[in-house]
Amino acid sequence: MGCDRVNPKFYRILMEIVISHNINPIDPARPTFIGEVSGIDLTRHLSDAEVAAVHAGMDRFGVLVFHDQHLDDEQQIAFSRQLGPLEEATGDIMSEKDRRLSMELNDISNLDKHGELLPRDDRRRLFGLGNLLWHSDSSFKDVPAKYSLLSARKIPSTGGNTEFADMRAAYDALDDATKAEVHDLICSHSQIFSRGILGFDDFTDAERAKWAPVRQRLVRRHPNTGRLSLYLASHAGGIEGWPMPEARSFLRDLNEHATQRQFVYAHVWRPWDLVMWDNRVTMHRARRYDPKEVRDMRRTTLSNEVSSLEQWAN
Ligand code: OGA
Ligand code: MN
Repeated sequence: MGCDRVNPKFYRILMEIVISHNINPIDPARPTFIGEVSGIDLTRHLSDAEVAAVHAGMDRFGVLVFHDQHLDDEQQIAFSRQLGPLEEATGDIMSEKDRRLSMELNDISNLDKHGELLPRDDRRRLFGLGNLLWHSDSSFKDVPAKYSLLSARKIPSTGGNTEFADMRAAYDALDDATKAEVHDLICSHSQIFSRGILGFDDFTDAERAKWAPVRQRLVRRHPNTGRLSLYLASHAGGIEGWPMPEARSFLRDLNEHATQRQFVYAHVWRPWDLVMWDNRVTMHRARRYDPKEVRDMRRTTLSNEVSSLEQWAN
């Protein structure tokens, strides 16, 4: 099942930490996807044991949900830094003078820097609609994202869920011939590809140069658990050595496979939820909501520190 390299001793220690720190599966029918964490206050400095528990929970569940975390920006950044080095929000289209938040925060809202709703046809809003497509954060960067931490400050009255797909389970469910076929493939990822899917091609020359395609493995092995997962994203627009239509149709098939309902959890937000996911083993997407309602979410992002090319599948 693709778990042959998992170290049983590592898993036993992982489970002990997870159980002793109140991290429980949200859905008992899916005991290894999405953990709910209780008894931890993310606004203050965490102990080493708490930091270890968060990492262990991430290794086990891929996504962790924390409720009632009344974080301000500084506290969110401080907590995120306790887990590892952050990446900067260089993937968004916002110019320096238009930014509402500091470079450590990705602005996942529909607001301008004065806190006003963006007009429906605003370029920044239309670019942000790329989040409605299944993706893994920053796969368009040479060194992509590790964890993303999304804090819900204000949510719309309806809609705007975030869905997560378990790419470990999706990999395990492939047939053997497909596993062999994908094993060593390299994809090219760019935000120009993902926005192109939605018909957004309003890029400057500087943006096109900044977001030139990067290479990522299609199959990654998690460095701690040893599990394999599919590394897919809307940003993936080609497979090295493959004719384009064949590459794109195969990637569509794989995405369709990986986002079947049995692999997907839909998070219905409450204000002050913090949801953290491991971009190495999941994809996610936003769901639509009324553009006349405010949705203010802020994301800090941990860097993977190395390219996926350095996380060999074999
Ligand atoms: C993100 C993202 C989805 C959402 O923060 O990276 O894709 O529901 N968010 O806002
Ligand atoms: Mn995202």
